Amino acid sequence: MTDLTSVIIGVGGYLPERILTNDDLCKVVDTSDEWIQTRTGIRQRHIAAQGELTSDLATAAAKAALANAGIEAGSVDLIVLATTTPDKTFPATATIVQDKLGIRGGAAFDVQAVCSGFLFALATADSMLKSGLFKTALVIGAETFTRLLDWSDRTTCVLFGDGAGAVVLRAEPQNKKKPGGVLGHHIRTDGSKQKLLYVDGGVSSTGTIGHVRMQGNQVFKHAVTNISSAVVEVLEMTGHTISEIDWFVPHQANQRILDGVGRKLGIDDAKLVSTVELHGNTSAASIPLALSTSVSDGRITQGDLVLSEAMGGGFSWGASLFRL
Ligand code: UT7
Repeated sequence: MTDLTSVIIGVGGYLPERILTNDDLCKVVDTSDEWIQTRTGIRQRHIAAQGELTSDLATAAAKAALANAGIEAGSVDLIVLATTTPDKTFPATATIVQDKLGIRGGAAFDVQAVCSGFLFALATADSMLKSGLFKTALVIGAETFTRLLDWSDRTTCVLFGDGAGAVVLRAEPQNKKKPGGVLGHHIRTDGSKQKLLYVDGGVSSTGTIGHVRMQGNQVFKHAVTNISSAVVEVLEMTGHTISEIDWFVPHQANQRILDGVGRKLGIDDAKLVSTVELHGNTSAASIPLALSTSVSDGRITQGDLVLSEAMGGGFSWGASLFRL
């Protein structure tokens, strides 16, 4: 490893125009606004328009992040895109975004870790920048996740939404006295739990896209435990404590999970960034979307210490600590 760190120099997000409310969903399945809000905290979610692809959402978020960083797309030499809902089986959606941004050099590829995808993509890009392999990276989480839903299954269709978020990372010399940028990650998977959250289709198994299937209450139990242990690991690894955290930007699956993790770890409610009410669960997009929302509304500012975590299908889970 070199003495480089990767600094987040820009963040951006994009949400499709169409909003689907809980009341709209009551016309589709046997549910209620009261059940959805009480059990999940979700009030509405955004839905991509017909013909609007994951790469379109990702490109819009990437453009917003580049504008926020004040740099041209041409200086990006790495794109790592986390998605479960690629435009096509191949090529990687990241390469489609590379083309849409007019970038003609470097490398672009996808990462698949479902709702933990953004943290896996961030860890991947961070390692590549710190090793000196690339200089400037776009790390994107983008999903048209509602295209994986079975709209007759009330246990899943009320939970998810579409969206994209992105950060621009740049390799810079490390300030040894006050380390900044991406400070550490802890990412893990456990394939033995795949039956609790999966899609019942795939290229090599059924030749179909399939639909999301989840035993929600089982996932819920594992989520709080796995996320809390990942946070403890990343804090130990980086030598920080919970009380030093300025902002907690978790994956947005369920307000009850956010509150449960916050309580277990002793995180002050005022430090929690929650967008689940307005966005639903946007899978790999939820963390960078929440980050971009809280940077653009002025809550998170330069120098703040930010803790992030996620848990998703696989199971996959992780935590990241960075200074903006
Ligand atoms: O981001 C990836 C990771 N995913 C997650 O982290 C999701 C984790 N799980 C959850 O967020 C929650 O488990 C859910 C929101 C999915 C479900 O909440 P729950 O409190 O765990 O409910 P439950 O699954 O135990 O179901 C309770 C009842 C059931 O009825 P009975 O069997 O008690 O009669 C369900 O059939 O709620 C019923 N139910 C609904 N009722 C109205 C399930 N979905 C709905 C619905 N509307 N949409």
